[in-house]
Amino acid sequence: MSKQRFAFVGTGSRAISFLEPLVTTYRGSSELVGICDLSPARLAYYNGLLAGDLGYHAVPAYGADRFDAMLRETRPDTVFVCSKDSTHHDYIVRSLQAGCDVITEKPLTIDAAKCRAILDAQRATGRRIRVAFNYRWAPFRTKVRELLQAGTIGRVHSVNLEYLLDTNHGADYFRRWHSSAAESGTLLVHKSTHHFDLVNWWLDAIPEQVFAYGDLVFYGRKNAEARGDGHLTRYPRYTGEPAAKNDPFRLDLDESEIFRRLYRAAEADSGYVRDQNVFRDGIDIPDQMSVNVRYRTGPLLTYSLVCYSPREGMRVSLNGDRGRIEYHEFIGTHMNRGVRPRDFKLDDKPGAEAEGERIVVYPHFQPSRVVAVPPAQGAHGGADDILARHFFSTDAPADPWNRTAGHEQGAASILIGIAAVESIRRNQPVNIADLVPLRPDAVHLSQLT
Ligand SMILES: NC(=O)c1ccc[n+]([C@@H]2O[C@H](COP(=O)([O-])OP(=O)(O)OC[C@H]3O[C@@H](n4cnc5c(N)ncnc54)[C@H](O)[C@@H]3O)[C@@H](O)[C@H]2O)c1
Repeated sequence: MSKQRFAFVGTGSRAISFLEPLVTTYRGSSELVGICDLSPARLAYYNGLLAGDLGYHAVPAYGADRFDAMLRETRPDTVFVCSKDSTHHDYIVRSLQAGCDVITEKPLTIDAAKCRAILDAQRATGRRIRVAFNYRWAPFRTKVRELLQAGTIGRVHSVNLEYLLDTNHGADYFRRWHSSAAESGTLLVHKSTHHFDLVNWWLDAIPEQVFAYGDLVFYGRKNAEARGDGHLTRYPRYTGEPAAKNDPFRLDLDESEIFRRLYRAAEADSGYVRDQNVFRDGIDIPDQMSVNVRYRTGPLLTYSLVCYSPREGMRVSLNGDRGRIEYHEFIGTHMNRGVRPRDFKLDDKPGAEAEGERIVVYPHFQPSRVVAVPPAQGAHGGADDILARHFFSTDAPADPWNRTAGHEQGAASILIGIAAVESIRRNQPVNIADLVPLRPDAVHLSQLT
Protein backbone atom coordinates (compact mmCIF):
# COMPACT_ATOMS: atom_id res chain seq x y z
CA MET A 1 0.00 0.00 0.00
CA SER A 2 1.38 3.43 -0.86
CA LYS A 3 2.06 5.81 1.98
CA GLN A 4 0.10 9.04 2.56
CA ARG A 5 2.29 11.93 1.44
CA PHE A 6 2.40 14.99 3.73
CA ALA A 7 4.00 18.41 3.27
CA PHE A 8 4.20 20.96 6.09
CA VAL A 9 4.01 24.74 5.84
CA GLY A 10 5.12 26.56 8.99
CA THR A 11 8.04 25.07 10.90
CA GLY A 12 7.90 26.94 14.20
CA SER A 13 7.32 25.52 17.68
CA ARG A 14 4.11 23.65 16.97
CA ALA A 15 5.16 21.68 13.89
CA ILE A 16 7.29 19.23 15.90
CA SER A 17 4.17 17.93 17.71
CA PHE A 18 2.93 16.40 14.45
CA LEU A 19 6.13 16.05 12.43
CA GLU A 20 7.75 13.79 14.99
CA PRO A 21 4.96 11.19 15.21
CA LEU A 22 4.62 11.28 11.43
CA VAL A 23 8.28 10.36 10.80
CA THR A 24 8.66 7.99 13.75
CA THR A 25 5.55 6.10 14.97
CA TYR A 26 3.66 6.40 11.68
CA ARG A 27 6.46 6.19 9.13
CA GLY A 28 5.06 2.89 7.91
CA SER A 29 1.84 4.52 6.73
CA SER A 30 2.80 8.17 6.19
CA GLU A 31 5.64 10.01 4.58
CA LEU A 32 6.97 13.56 4.91
CA VAL A 33 7.79 14.88 1.44
CA GLY A 34 8.55 18.58 1.96
CA ILE A 35 8.63 21.51 4.37
CA CYS A 36 8.04 25.21 3.74
CA ASP A 37 8.59 28.31 5.89
CA LEU A 38 9.47 31.97 5.67
CA SER A 39 12.73 31.33 7.49
CA PRO A 40 15.61 29.31 5.96
CA ALA A 41 17.13 29.00 9.46
CA ARG A 42 13.99 27.33 10.84
CA LEU A 43 13.84 25.00 7.82
CA ALA A 44 17.48 24.06 8.39
CA TYR A 45 16.76 23.43 12.08
CA TYR A 46 13.97 21.01 11.20
CA ASN A 47 15.99 19.24 8.52
CA GLY A 48 18.80 18.83 11.06
CA LEU A 49 16.36 17.21 13.48
CA LEU A 50 14.87 14.98 10.79
CA ALA A 51 18.26 13.71 9.62
CA GLY A 52 19.64 13.56 13.17
CA ASP A 53 17.71 12.81 16.36
CA LEU A 54 14.51 11.75 14.58
CA GLY A 55 16.37 9.11 12.53
CA TYR A 56 14.59 10.08 9.29
CA HIS A 57 16.22 12.03 6.49
CA ALA A 58 16.30 15.63 5.34
CA VAL A 59 13.41 16.53 3.02
CA PRO A 60 13.19 19.18 0.28
CA ALA A 61 12.84 22.59 1.97
CA TYR A 62 11.12 25.55 0.33
CA GLY A 63 10.96 29.24 1.19
CA ALA A 64 7.49 30.78 1.48
CA ASP A 65 7.80 32.20 -2.05
CA ARG A 66 8.23 28.64 -3.40
CA PHE A 67 5.19 27.02 -1.80
CA ASP A 68 3.56 26.28 -5.18
CA ALA A 69 6.83 24.73 -6.38
CA MET A 70 6.77 22.47 -3.31
CA LEU A 71 3.29 21.26 -4.22
CA ARG A 72 4.30 20.64 -7.84
CA GLU A 73 7.60 18.95 -7.13
CA THR A 74 6.77 16.88 -4.02
CA ARG A 75 3.13 16.00 -4.87
CA PRO A 76 1.72 15.76 -1.31
CA ASP A 77 -1.70 14.19 -0.77
CA THR A 78 -2.20 16.44 2.25
CA VAL A 79 -0.73 19.78 3.25
CA PHE A 80 -0.40 20.36 6.99
CA VAL A 81 -0.76 24.11 7.65
CA CYS A 82 1.10 25.11 10.80
CA SER A 83 2.15 28.67 10.00
CA LYS A 84 1.14 31.98 11.59
CA ASP A 85 -2.66 32.28 11.75
CA SER A 86 -3.01 35.18 9.28
CA THR A 87 -1.39 33.03 6.56
CA HIS A 88 -3.59 29.92 6.95
CA HIS A 89 -6.24 30.92 4.39
CA ASP A 90 -3.68 31.55 1.66
CA TYR A 91 -2.01 28.17 2.09
CA ILE A 92 -5.31 26.34 2.49
CA VAL A 93 -6.75 27.85 -0.70
CA ARG A 94 -3.61 27.23 -2.76
CA SER A 95 -3.35 23.64 -1.52
CA LEU A 96 -6.98 22.90 -2.40
CA GLN A 97 -6.55 24.46 -5.82
CA ALA A 98 -3.51 22.26 -6.42
CA GLY A 99 -5.64 19.17 -5.72
CA CYS A 100 -4.43 18.49 -2.16
CA ASP A 101 -6.38 17.84 1.02
CA VAL A 102 -5.55 20.01 4.02
CA ILE A 103 -5.09 19.60 7.74
CA THR A 104 -4.81 22.99 9.38
CA GLU A 105 -3.86 24.02 12.84
CA LYS A 106 -6.49 26.09 14.57
CA PRO A 107 -7.76 28.71 13.97
CA LEU A 108 -9.07 27.93 10.46
CA THR A 109 -8.38 31.60 9.72
CA ILE A 110 -8.74 35.01 11.38
CA ASP A 111 -11.47 37.06 9.66
CA ALA A 112 -14.72 36.72 7.73
CA ALA A 113 -13.33 37.52 4.26
CA LYS A 114 -10.58 34.91 4.61
CA CYS A 115 -13.13 32.42 5.92
CA ARG A 116 -15.35 32.98 2.88
CA ALA A 117 -12.34 32.48 0.58
CA ILE A 118 -11.64 29.09 2.21
CA LEU A 119 -15.26 27.93 1.99
CA ASP A 120 -15.48 29.05 -1.66
CA ALA A 121 -12.27 27.21 -2.58
CA GLN A 122 -13.45 24.07 -0.83
CA ARG A 123 -16.77 24.19 -2.67
CA ALA A 124 -15.02 24.71 -6.01
CA THR A 125 -12.49 21.88 -5.53
CA GLY A 126 -14.37 19.37 -3.36
CA ARG A 127 -11.15 18.62 -1.44
CA ARG A 128 -11.15 17.78 2.26
CA ILE A 129 -10.13 20.17 5.08
CA ARG A 130 -9.69 19.08 8.69
CA VAL A 131 -9.01 21.40 11.62
CA ALA A 132 -6.65 20.11 14.32
CA PHE A 133 -8.90 20.88 17.28
CA ASN A 134 -6.85 18.89 19.78
CA TYR A 135 -9.07 20.03 22.70
CA ARG A 136 -11.82 17.67 21.54
CA TRP A 137 -9.44 14.71 21.70
CA ALA A 138 -8.33 15.03 25.33
CA PRO A 139 -10.00 12.09 27.13
CA PHE A 140 -11.52 14.20 29.93
CA ARG A 141 -13.15 16.61 27.48
CA THR A 142 -14.39 13.72 25.38
CA LYS A 143 -15.95 12.40 28.60
CA VAL A 144 -18.13 15.51 28.92
CA ARG A 145 -19.36 14.96 25.38
CA GLU A 146 -20.08 11.31 26.20
CA LEU A 147 -22.18 12.33 29.24
CA LEU A 148 -24.15 14.93 27.29
CA GLN A 149 -24.66 12.61 24.31
CA ALA A 150 -26.07 10.01 26.73
CA GLY A 151 -28.64 12.55 27.97
CA THR A 152 -27.20 12.61 31.51
CA ILE A 153 -28.56 16.11 32.24
CA GLY A 154 -31.27 16.18 29.58
CA ARG A 155 -31.33 19.01 27.09
CA VAL A 156 -28.68 21.64 27.81
CA HIS A 157 -29.97 25.21 27.90
CA SER A 158 -26.97 27.16 29.10
CA VAL A 159 -23.21 26.94 29.56
CA ASN A 160 -20.75 29.05 31.54
CA LEU A 161 -17.12 28.74 30.55
CA GLU A 162 -14.38 30.66 32.31
CA TYR A 163 -10.90 30.23 30.88
CA LEU A 164 -7.80 31.48 32.68
CA LEU A 165 -4.47 32.01 30.94
CA ASP A 166 -1.68 32.70 33.38
CA THR A 167 1.28 35.07 33.54
CA ASN A 168 3.46 32.29 32.08
CA HIS A 169 1.57 30.83 29.11
CA GLY A 170 -0.85 33.76 28.77
CA ALA A 171 1.91 36.36 28.88
CA ASP A 172 3.74 34.56 26.09
CA TYR A 173 1.06 35.57 23.56
CA PHE A 174 1.93 39.19 24.30
CA ARG A 175 5.60 38.68 23.37
CA ARG A 176 4.83 37.49 19.86
CA TRP A 177 2.74 37.99 16.70
CA HIS A 178 -0.37 36.95 18.62
CA SER A 179 -0.47 40.44 20.16
CA SER A 180 -1.24 41.94 16.75
CA ALA A 181 -4.89 41.60 15.72
CA ALA A 182 -3.89 41.56 12.04
CA GLU A 183 -1.81 38.46 12.63
CA SER A 184 -3.87 36.44 15.12
CA GLY A 185 -7.40 37.88 14.86
CA THR A 186 -6.95 38.55 18.64
CA LEU A 187 -7.04 35.80 21.27
CA LEU A 188 -10.83 35.65 20.80
CA VAL A 189 -9.94 33.91 17.55
CA HIS A 190 -6.48 32.45 18.13
CA LYS A 191 -7.13 30.99 21.57
CA SER A 192 -10.88 31.02 22.14
CA THR A 193 -11.45 29.05 18.93
CA HIS A 194 -10.57 26.00 21.07
CA HIS A 195 -13.15 26.90 23.71
CA PHE A 196 -15.91 27.89 21.31
CA ASP A 197 -15.38 24.70 19.35
CA LEU A 198 -15.61 22.67 22.53
CA VAL A 199 -18.98 24.17 23.44
CA ASN A 200 -20.29 23.90 19.84
CA TRP A 201 -19.28 20.23 19.80
CA TRP A 202 -20.44 19.40 23.35
CA LEU A 203 -23.89 20.86 22.59
CA ASP A 204 -23.92 19.80 18.93
CA ALA A 205 -25.06 23.35 18.25
CA ILE A 206 -24.44 26.14 15.75
CA PRO A 207 -23.84 29.69 17.04
CA GLU A 208 -26.19 32.40 15.84
CA GLN A 209 -25.61 35.73 17.63
CA VAL A 210 -22.75 37.20 19.67
CA PHE A 211 -22.28 40.15 21.99
CA ALA A 212 -18.91 40.94 23.58
CA TYR A 213 -16.73 43.30 25.57
CA GLY A 214 -12.95 43.28 25.54
CA ASP A 215 -10.22 45.50 26.97
CA LEU A 216 -6.46 45.62 27.39
CA VAL A 217 -6.11 46.05 31.15
CA PHE A 218 -2.85 44.36 32.15
CA TYR A 219 -0.27 44.09 29.32
CA GLY A 220 1.03 47.08 27.35
CA ARG A 221 3.10 50.04 28.54
CA LYS A 222 0.26 52.20 29.82
CA ASN A 223 -1.18 49.52 32.09
CA ALA A 224 2.22 48.72 33.61
CA GLU A 225 2.94 52.40 34.24
CA ALA A 226 -0.50 52.99 35.74
CA ARG A 227 0.02 50.34 38.41
CA GLY A 228 3.57 51.42 39.24
CA ASP A 229 5.44 48.82 37.15
CA GLY A 230 7.07 51.37 34.83
CA HIS A 231 10.47 49.74 35.47
CA LEU A 232 9.25 46.66 33.52
CA THR A 233 8.69 48.73 30.37
CA ARG A 234 12.23 50.04 29.84
CA TYR A 235 13.58 47.55 27.27
CA PRO A 236 12.00 46.43 23.98
CA ARG A 237 12.90 42.75 24.47
CA TYR A 238 14.30 40.47 27.16
CA THR A 239 17.19 38.49 25.62
CA GLY A 240 20.59 39.91 26.46
CA GLU A 241 19.06 42.67 28.59
CA PRO A 242 20.83 43.00 31.97
CA ALA A 243 18.08 45.29 33.34
CA ALA A 244 15.57 42.45 32.84
CA LYS A 245 17.46 40.08 35.15
CA ASN A 246 14.77 40.03 37.84
CA ASP A 247 11.79 40.70 35.57
CA PRO A 248 9.23 37.90 36.14
CA PHE A 249 8.08 38.26 32.51
CA ARG A 250 11.58 37.81 31.11
CA LEU A 251 12.19 35.19 28.42
CA ASP A 252 15.81 34.73 27.39
CA LEU A 253 16.05 32.99 24.03
CA ASP A 254 19.71 32.18 24.65
CA GLU A 255 18.82 30.03 27.64
CA SER A 256 17.26 27.33 25.48
CA GLU A 257 19.10 25.55 22.69
CA ILE A 258 15.82 25.12 20.80
CA PHE A 259 14.83 28.78 21.13
CA ARG A 260 18.30 29.91 20.16
CA ARG A 261 18.29 27.90 16.95
CA LEU A 262 14.60 28.18 16.09
CA TYR A 263 14.16 31.90 16.79
CA ARG A 264 17.34 33.79 17.73
CA ALA A 265 19.29 32.43 14.77
CA ALA A 266 16.32 33.13 12.48
CA GLU A 267 15.83 36.80 13.38
CA ALA A 268 18.00 37.96 10.51
CA ASP A 269 16.09 36.02 7.86
CA SER A 270 12.53 36.46 9.17
CA GLY A 271 12.51 39.57 11.36
CA TYR A 272 10.56 37.59 13.98
CA VAL A 273 11.47 38.69 17.53
CA ARG A 274 10.09 36.01 19.85
CA ASP A 275 10.75 37.71 23.19
CA GLN A 276 9.30 41.24 22.93
CA ASN A 277 8.49 43.07 26.14
CA VAL A 278 4.88 42.37 27.14
CA PHE A 279 4.68 45.93 28.47
CA ARG A 280 5.49 47.72 25.22
CA ASP A 281 3.43 50.05 23.04
CA GLY A 282 1.55 48.75 20.02
CA ILE A 283 -0.33 45.78 21.49
CA ASP A 284 -3.78 46.00 19.93
CA ILE A 285 -5.58 42.94 21.32
CA PRO A 286 -7.60 42.74 24.55
CA ASP A 287 -6.37 40.68 27.50
CA GLN A 288 -9.75 40.28 29.14
CA MET A 289 -12.90 39.43 27.28
CA SER A 290 -16.47 38.62 28.04
CA VAL A 291 -18.73 37.08 25.39
CA ASN A 292 -22.37 36.05 25.20
CA VAL A 293 -23.48 33.64 22.49
CA ARG A 294 -26.95 32.48 21.50
CA TYR A 295 -27.16 29.22 19.53
CA ARG A 296 -29.63 28.45 16.71
CA THR A 297 -31.30 25.82 18.92
CA GLY A 298 -31.65 28.25 21.85
CA PRO A 299 -28.85 27.53 24.38
CA LEU A 300 -26.80 30.42 25.74
CA LEU A 301 -23.06 30.50 26.32
CA THR A 302 -21.53 32.91 28.83
CA TYR A 303 -17.78 32.96 28.22
CA SER A 304 -14.86 34.79 29.73
CA LEU A 305 -11.15 34.78 29.02
CA VAL A 306 -8.59 36.41 31.29
CA CYS A 307 -4.93 36.38 30.21
CA TYR A 308 -3.10 37.62 33.32
CA SER A 309 -4.21 35.08 35.94
CA PRO A 310 -1.83 33.56 38.53
CA ARG A 311 -3.13 30.12 37.53
CA GLU A 312 -4.15 28.45 34.31
CA GLY A 313 -7.25 26.37 33.68
CA MET A 314 -10.94 26.25 32.96
CA ARG A 315 -14.23 26.05 34.83
CA VAL A 316 -17.38 25.03 33.03
CA SER A 317 -20.94 24.51 34.13
CA LEU A 318 -23.65 23.10 31.90
CA ASN A 319 -27.32 23.49 32.88
CA GLY A 320 -29.78 20.97 31.48
CA ASP A 321 -33.45 20.31 32.09
CA ARG A 322 -32.55 17.10 34.02
CA GLY A 323 -29.59 18.48 35.99
CA ARG A 324 -26.22 20.16 35.84
CA ILE A 325 -22.61 19.21 35.12
CA GLU A 326 -19.77 21.07 36.77
CA TYR A 327 -16.39 20.51 35.26
CA HIS A 328 -12.98 21.98 35.89
CA GLU A 329 -9.45 21.37 34.77
CA PHE A 330 -6.41 22.88 36.39
CA ILE A 331 -3.72 20.77 34.77
CA GLY A 332 -0.79 23.11 35.35
CA THR A 333 0.89 25.62 33.09
CA HIS A 334 2.93 25.03 29.99
CA MET A 335 4.50 27.41 27.50
CA ASN A 336 5.27 25.94 24.09
CA ARG A 337 9.05 25.67 23.82
CA GLY A 338 9.20 23.63 20.63
CA VAL A 339 10.24 20.48 22.49
CA ARG A 340 9.70 16.98 21.14
CA PRO A 341 6.48 15.37 22.41
CA ARG A 342 8.37 12.90 24.63
CA ASP A 343 10.13 15.82 26.36
CA PHE A 344 6.85 17.59 27.21
CA LYS A 345 6.67 18.68 30.83
CA LEU A 346 4.69 21.18 32.83
CA ASP A 347 6.42 24.39 33.86
CA ASP A 348 7.33 24.72 37.48
CA LYS A 349 5.70 28.03 38.50
CA PRO A 350 4.55 29.01 41.98
CA GLY A 351 0.77 29.03 42.29
CA ALA A 352 0.28 27.10 39.05
CA GLU A 353 0.34 23.62 40.58
CA ALA A 354 -1.69 21.02 38.73
CA GLU A 355 -4.87 20.11 40.56
CA GLY A 356 -6.23 17.83 37.87
CA GLU A 357 -9.62 17.66 36.30
CA ARG A 358 -12.98 16.85 37.86
CA ILE A 359 -16.46 16.26 36.49
CA VAL A 360 -19.45 16.24 38.84
CA VAL A 361 -22.98 15.45 37.74
CA TYR A 362 -25.85 16.99 39.74
CA PRO A 363 -29.10 15.35 38.60
CA HIS A 364 -32.36 17.03 39.64
CA PHE A 365 -33.72 15.53 42.91
CA GLN A 366 -30.90 12.97 43.27
CA PRO A 367 -27.47 12.91 44.93
CA SER A 368 -24.55 14.24 42.95
CA ARG A 369 -21.80 11.95 41.67
CA VAL A 370 -18.20 12.43 40.64
CA VAL A 371 -17.45 10.94 37.23
CA ALA A 372 -14.23 8.95 36.87
CA VAL A 373 -11.95 10.79 34.49
CA PRO A 374 -8.83 9.36 32.87
CA PRO A 375 -5.81 11.34 34.15
CA ALA A 376 -4.25 13.79 31.69
CA GLN A 377 -0.96 12.50 30.28
CA GLY A 378 1.36 14.04 27.71
CA ALA A 379 1.00 17.19 25.68
CA HIS A 380 -2.38 18.94 25.77
CA GLY A 381 -3.98 16.50 28.18
CA GLY A 382 -3.07 13.49 26.04
CA ALA A 383 -4.89 14.88 23.02
CA ASP A 384 -1.93 15.29 20.66
CA ASP A 385 -1.07 11.56 20.68
CA ILE A 386 -4.63 10.51 19.89
CA LEU A 387 -4.93 13.13 17.18
CA ALA A 388 -1.62 12.11 15.56
CA ARG A 389 -2.88 8.53 15.30
CA HIS A 390 -6.08 9.79 13.73
CA PHE A 391 -4.15 11.81 11.12
CA PHE A 392 -1.25 9.52 10.27
CA SER A 393 -2.19 5.89 10.91
CA THR A 394 -4.28 3.68 8.68
CA ASP A 395 -5.91 1.83 11.59
CA ALA A 396 -7.33 4.66 13.75
CA PRO A 397 -10.31 3.32 15.72
CA ALA A 398 -13.86 4.41 14.83
CA ASP A 399 -14.85 7.59 16.63
CA PRO A 400 -18.30 7.46 18.25
CA TRP A 401 -17.98 11.09 19.38
CA ASN A 402 -17.48 12.67 15.95
CA ARG A 403 -14.30 14.43 16.97
CA THR A 404 -13.16 15.17 13.44
CA ALA A 405 -13.84 18.77 12.49
CA GLY A 406 -14.06 19.88 8.87
CA HIS A 407 -14.02 23.37 7.41
CA GLU A 408 -17.61 24.26 8.33
CA GLN A 409 -17.16 23.24 11.95
CA GLY A 410 -13.84 25.10 11.96
CA ALA A 411 -15.71 28.14 10.65
CA ALA A 412 -18.49 27.80 13.26
CA SER A 413 -15.88 28.18 15.96
CA ILE A 414 -13.82 31.10 14.61
CA LEU A 415 -16.96 32.97 13.65
CA ILE A 416 -17.89 33.36 17.31
CA GLY A 417 -14.53 35.05 17.91
CA ILE A 418 -14.71 37.09 14.71
CA ALA A 419 -18.24 38.21 15.59
CA ALA A 420 -17.06 39.03 19.13
CA VAL A 421 -14.28 41.26 17.77
CA GLU A 422 -16.85 42.98 15.55
CA SER A 423 -19.27 43.33 18.46
CA ILE A 424 -16.59 44.99 20.61
CA ARG A 425 -15.86 47.38 17.75
CA ARG A 426 -19.54 48.25 17.13
CA ASN A 427 -20.78 47.89 20.72
CA GLN A 428 -23.71 45.90 19.33
CA PRO A 429 -24.76 42.25 18.96
CA VAL A 430 -23.56 40.66 15.72
CA ASN A 431 -25.38 37.99 13.71
CA ILE A 432 -22.97 35.35 12.46
CA ALA A 433 -25.01 34.88 9.27
CA ASP A 434 -24.18 38.50 8.36
CA LEU A 435 -20.48 37.61 8.38
CA VAL A 436 -20.55 34.16 6.77
CA PRO A 437 -23.80 32.31 6.00
CA LEU A 438 -23.07 28.85 7.40
CA ARG A 439 -25.68 26.47 5.87
CA PRO A 440 -28.82 28.38 6.95
CA ASP A 441 -30.93 25.20 7.04
CA ALA A 442 -28.63 23.27 9.42
CA VAL A 443 -29.75 22.91 13.04
CA HIS A 444 -26.93 20.91 14.65
CA LEU A 445 -23.16 21.19 14.39
CA SER A 446 -23.00 17.57 13.23
CA GLN A 447 -24.91 18.63 10.10
CA LEU A 448 -21.91 20.78 9.17
CA THR A 449 -18.82 19.21 7.62
N1 LIG B 1 -3.56 23.33 18.94
C1 LIG B 1 -2.59 23.75 19.70
O1 LIG B 1 -2.52 23.36 20.84
C2 LIG B 1 -1.57 24.71 19.17
C3 LIG B 1 -0.45 25.04 19.96
C4 LIG B 1 0.47 25.94 19.44
C5 LIG B 1 0.28 26.48 18.18
N2 LIG B 1 -0.81 26.15 17.44
C6 LIG B 1 -1.01 26.72 16.10
O2 LIG B 1 0.09 26.33 15.28
C7 LIG B 1 0.44 27.37 14.38
C8 LIG B 1 1.92 27.71 14.56
O3 LIG B 1 2.13 28.21 15.88
P1 LIG B 1 3.59 28.19 16.55
O4 LIG B 1 3.39 28.26 18.01
O5 LIG B 1 4.42 27.13 15.95
O6 LIG B 1 4.11 29.62 16.08
P2 LIG B 1 5.60 30.03 15.69
O7 LIG B 1 5.60 31.51 15.68
O8 LIG B 1 6.57 29.30 16.50
O9 LIG B 1 5.73 29.50 14.19
C9 LIG B 1 5.03 30.07 13.13
C10 LIG B 1 5.81 29.75 11.88
O10 LIG B 1 5.10 30.31 10.75
C11 LIG B 1 6.08 30.80 9.88
N3 LIG B 1 5.51 31.79 8.97
C12 LIG B 1 5.08 33.05 9.24
N4 LIG B 1 4.64 33.64 8.12
C13 LIG B 1 4.77 32.72 7.12
C14 LIG B 1 4.48 32.72 5.76
N5 LIG B 1 3.94 33.79 5.15
N6 LIG B 1 4.72 31.62 5.04
C15 LIG B 1 5.26 30.51 5.63
N7 LIG B 1 5.56 30.45 6.94
C16 LIG B 1 5.32 31.55 7.67
C17 LIG B 1 7.13 31.41 10.78
O11 LIG B 1 8.34 31.62 10.09
C18 LIG B 1 7.21 30.37 11.87
O12 LIG B 1 8.16 29.38 11.59
C19 LIG B 1 -0.49 28.54 14.69
O13 LIG B 1 -1.55 28.54 13.76
C20 LIG B 1 -1.02 28.23 16.07
O14 LIG B 1 -2.34 28.71 16.25
C21 LIG B 1 -1.72 25.25 17.93
